[in-house]
Amino acid sequence: MPSCRICKTNYDPFLSFGNMPIANGFLTKEQFDAEYFFELQVGFCPECKMVQIVNQPNREMMFHENYAFYSSTSQNMKLHFKQFAETVMKKYLPSEKSFVVELGSNDGIMLKNFASAGHKHLGIEPSANVAKAAIENGVNTICEFFDEDLAHKIVNEYGQADAFLGANVMCHIPYLHSIVEGIKLLLKPEGIVMFEDPYLGDVIEKTSYDQIYDEHAFLFSVHSIQYLFNMHNMELVDVEPQETHGGSMRYIIGHKEKRSVSSNVQKYLEKEKNLGIGSIGTYYMFKNNCEKFKHDLVNLLNDIKKDGKSIAGYAATSKSTTIINYCGITADQLDYICDTTPIKQNKFSPGAHIPVKAYENFSNSYPDYALLFAYNHMEEIMKKETRFVDQGGKWILYVPEVKVLQ
Ligand code: SAH
Ligand code: TMP
Ligand code: ZN
Repeated sequence: MPSCRICKTNYDPFLSFGNMPIANGFLTKEQFDAEYFFELQVGFCPECKMVQIVNQPNREMMFHENYAFYSSTSQNMKLHFKQFAETVMKKYLPSEKSFVVELGSNDGIMLKNFASAGHKHLGIEPSANVAKAAIENGVNTICEFFDEDLAHKIVNEYGQADAFLGANVMCHIPYLHSIVEGIKLLLKPEGIVMFEDPYLGDVIEKTSYDQIYDEHAFLFSVHSIQYLFNMHNMELVDVEPQETHGGSMRYIIGHKEKRSVSSNVQKYLEKEKNLGIGSIGTYYMFKNNCEKFKHDLVNLLNDIKKDGKSIAGYAATSKSTTIINYCGITADQLDYICDTTPIKQNKFSPGAHIPVKAYENFSNSYPDYALLFAYNHMEEIMKKETRFVDQGGKWILYVPEVKVLQ
């Protein structure tokens, strides 16, 4: 039996998606034979309520100098992080000398707002290619994995931080105790921690099982985050739901007893109880829903192909790796997947080896159907793809249910 990464309680995994490749491991033909696979299993800890994957590939296999995810490919996310930064500056950074640190700062999408406002800032980003893009954008970045040791070095070199931020990165890190100890060291006594990640509540409610892949070691909830930070004598003081990435939660944390605790914390703890996030039955139900979604999607794609129609995937997201490989989707069903990220183009998707092509392949010659893998960017994409729909193209969606958009 595996033991929980947070509280060491033994637990039974409730679901296996089978063998999975590295979700962002887009590859060339020459690399097919050496492709790495691991079993993607998920478990729930009955003690601290943390949902976690059982085995995670080594961090260097996922985060390196060819990391395929560039945060700034979405205009809406740029706006989201601008607003995030403005909130932090207004509420928590009294002067330009206030120091802000961001974990997993990627290409600088959030920190560039602090840089241009003249704030002392530092990004910590181990993937060298995206870190380089940030530095070229005028964002101070160190290319390292954050942990307790690095926190010591940062304090010695730069001093303690007024704000410690993270987005879609805390849930990527299996060694969270070292991270939280590092945050504790780095944060001034009155400092604030704010981070957001895809929210377990949304994943359960929408059966968005594609949020489960190698990089996501955890699916957080208010329960599990409160438990984790309590273990380190830190306090969850507020939570704010976000619409990003199909439903996320922002957690606001301080040193113990330094701030008043918002009633939101209790409100979401109650909501989570009502949703059943603390009982294993909920996860068995989730498992059944995943199987049903798989069945529905495969049948829909096969029916469309029987009619002799073409289907392309829209956006080669990391999330799509779970969908494609769990559902057994191949190049027989999807002619190609288009994506605007240059580093993904002219490569093949992880596991199923579906060709990934430049966006222009889609816009120059529309398929009959497009399977929307980036449903979290739906608003932005629908706005720019009106021509596809006007000339008869149809969208296939799979969250919160499998359907053809009419
Ligand atoms: N914050 C950005 C990027 C999220 S992707 C956004 O929301 O769009 C996750 C990022 O975390 C990757 O760029 C990855 O390289 C980085 N990362 C992974 N492990 C890390 C660690 N231990 N310390 C700092 N960054 C890490
Ligand atoms: P994400 O869902 O993890 O944010 O990844 C988004 C992916 O979708 C990324 O590879 C870029 C791609 N993308 C497009 O191809 N077109 C778009 O319009 C948007 C918003 C994203
Ligand atoms: Zn636990």
